[in-house]
Amino acid sequence: MDGATNLNRYLSDAWHDAPHAFEVISPTTGEVVGAAADCGEAEARHAVDVAWRAFEHWRTVNPFERAATLRRWHGLIMADQDGLGRLMAQEMGKPVREGRGEAAYSAGFVEWYAEEAKRVYGTWFPSHAGHKRLLAMKQPVGPAYAVTPWNFPAAMITRKAAPALAAGCPMIVKPAEQAPFTALRLAELWLEAGGPPGTLQVLPASDPVPVTRVMMADPRIRKVSFTGSTEVGKLLYRQAADTVKRLSLELGGHAPYLVFDDADLERAVAEVTACKFRNAGQTCVCTNRIYVQTGIYDAFLERFSAAVAALVPGDPLDDRTDIGPLVDAAGLEKVVRHVDDAVAKGATVTTGGRATGGLHYAPTVLTGVTDDMALMVEETFGPVAPVLSFEHEEEAIARANATPYGLAAYLYTRDLTRAIRVSEALEYGIVGVNDGVPAAPYAPFGGVKQSGIGREGGPWGIEEYLEVKYVSLNLS
Ligand code: SIN
Repeated sequence: MDGATNLNRYLSDAWHDAPHAFEVISPTTGEVVGAAADCGEAEARHAVDVAWRAFEHWRTVNPFERAATLRRWHGLIMADQDGLGRLMAQEMGKPVREGRGEAAYSAGFVEWYAEEAKRVYGTWFPSHAGHKRLLAMKQPVGPAYAVTPWNFPAAMITRKAAPALAAGCPMIVKPAEQAPFTALRLAELWLEAGGPPGTLQVLPASDPVPVTRVMMADPRIRKVSFTGSTEVGKLLYRQAADTVKRLSLELGGHAPYLVFDDADLERAVAEVTACKFRNAGQTCVCTNRIYVQTGIYDAFLERFSAAVAALVPGDPLDDRTDIGPLVDAAGLEKVVRHVDDAVAKGATVTTGGRATGGLHYAPTVLTGVTDDMALMVEETFGPVAPVLSFEHEEEAIARANATPYGLAAYLYTRDLTRAIRVSEALEYGIVGVNDGVPAAPYAPFGGVKQSGIGREGGPWGIEEYLEVKYVSLNLS
């Protein structure tokens, strides 16, 4: 495996050999990428002790020094963009071009929070009593635990770890079992940047339950951040109640894309394609339902199907590849089930619609889709784009909002008034107007309804790792 020095090791206060290991299988070749340390309850208990000790020190480190360490980490991640991109391609099948982009995106969070570390401002505020002076100061919440997904194995770690570390909170990461090596490489770079031992720990595990059980039960873990399914998010939400932990949840989505008659067709096709087929459709904010107004429906469908048919599937390590494999057999089975169910209920395939060997599925466009089909209810998490039509704005908004999810929604229009009106009406945490890829390190990312709580990114992201302490000074 390229650049992997972390076979069978995990990072706690130092690098440790694990008593057990699990194999990470390449979704492209089916071969073993490497053996990853398999952490359990014992490693988790040790990690909490280490994090607590690290907190006592890290919280007192001058924020300018914390910022400098983060800046060095940013530089090292940028210098290893290609290595990280290749690691992602190998362990979870992201095309290497996208992987390099993700490495830069992940470094962007580190750079942003290096700056924010110096801007954790408190507030002096007035009192009705002349002899009092009142202060609201911000302090780190304490050791944090992050459970991160495989689909963005680098960026979803730095999106959580960078604000935590900037705020003065050590972080323990349990990376997805499909992509532990990217996480370990990031941790290695953190140490190289001068990050003190114990401030960032990475505990891979084939089964997330034992490690997570320890973290959720220990009152010293003050904050949990999770990106993953709504089902698991609800479980963690309940478990966090026992020790009243702060919680951020970035859960599932079912993103609608509304394309209005006045849209610039070529640009709308390009944005919808980028939005849908990023990471082979395995992104929480990928559109799952494309609603096109009847006036441009046929023209859109023709151009969109052609654009999708032109996407290049292949080996994720090849720079020409646009679409890699699904991450695992379960991911492929879901895609197959959704397309088969849609076709059995009357949908038509305009391009793709078949598995193409190994874990690959051809980029697919479907028409004749109805609300009773599985793919209109569940998140497909694959390269499948259902295209539906609508008549009126009110109808489009109602259909877009008719879901328990509320992560991201998109619209394409040249009418500014409509853009604002529809953005306001959509019950989503993120709205992309003429923009299929709105996420950025300095922007708030998160959902409403059953898509989660809390925001990551920008100034909002660091607040999740800060407590407000009120100090009242009686000067009399
Ligand atoms: C996700 O939705 O899984 C993350 C996508 C992003 O940050 O753009």
